[in-house]
Amino acid sequence: MIFRQVEADDLYTIIDLEYQNFDFPYPPEIINFLYESYRNTFLVVEKDRDIIGFVIGITQKKEGHILVIAVRDDFKRKGIGTVLMKKLINVYEKNGITRLKLEVRESNVAAISMYRKLGFKINNKLKHYYEDGEDGLLLRRG
Ligand SMILES: CC(C)(COP(=O)(O)OP(=O)(O)OC[C@H]1O[C@@H](n2cnc3c(N)ncnc32)[C@H](O)[C@@H]1OP(=O)(O)O)[C@@H](O)C(=O)NCCC(=O)NCCS
Repeated sequence: MIFRQVEADDLYTIIDLEYQNFDFPYPPEIINFLYESYRNTFLVVEKDRDIIGFVIGITQKKEGHILVIAVRDDFKRKGIGTVLMKKLINVYEKNGITRLKLEVRESNVAAISMYRKLGFKINNKLKHYYEDGEDGLLLRRG
């Protein structure tokens, strides 16, 4: 398995993974914009030449904001999401950024559990944060 920065050829598969994993996926234009603007903090994991997971972060006001992470269904629960997050945290730290935040659906127990194990703490509840009215949680680390 190779963990690396995103490349242009990866984007089709990433857009597919978005649609497979989310009811309200980021549209391709946004994924392209994130690729153009935040490539340093856009990481993928490749296995046998397939992209099987990715994570996208951005940086605003010296704070890292993790926008999305997804792992292909047949590779879930094997520690890959955790490694992707650790690699991203490492990139941020190398750039002197230690304060991180992210939002997550309140119902997403898998992701919340992973984030807590990585040192994120629930900071706030975000009422009706998502398109379908579900509440979100704001998590912070550092
Ligand atoms: C969230 C996600 C990225 C986790 O990736 P992953 O590679 O499966 O996660 P890991 O194997 O590293 O799991 C780390 C920990 O997270 C928790 N976890 C992961 N999947 C879980 C599940 N289905 N149920 C409960 N806890 C789970 C566990 O605490 C796990 O540790 P453990 O396996 O030692 O018990 C993956 O489930 C996914 O792609 N989900 C859909 C997209 C999504 O919801 N992304 C987050 C919002 S942006």
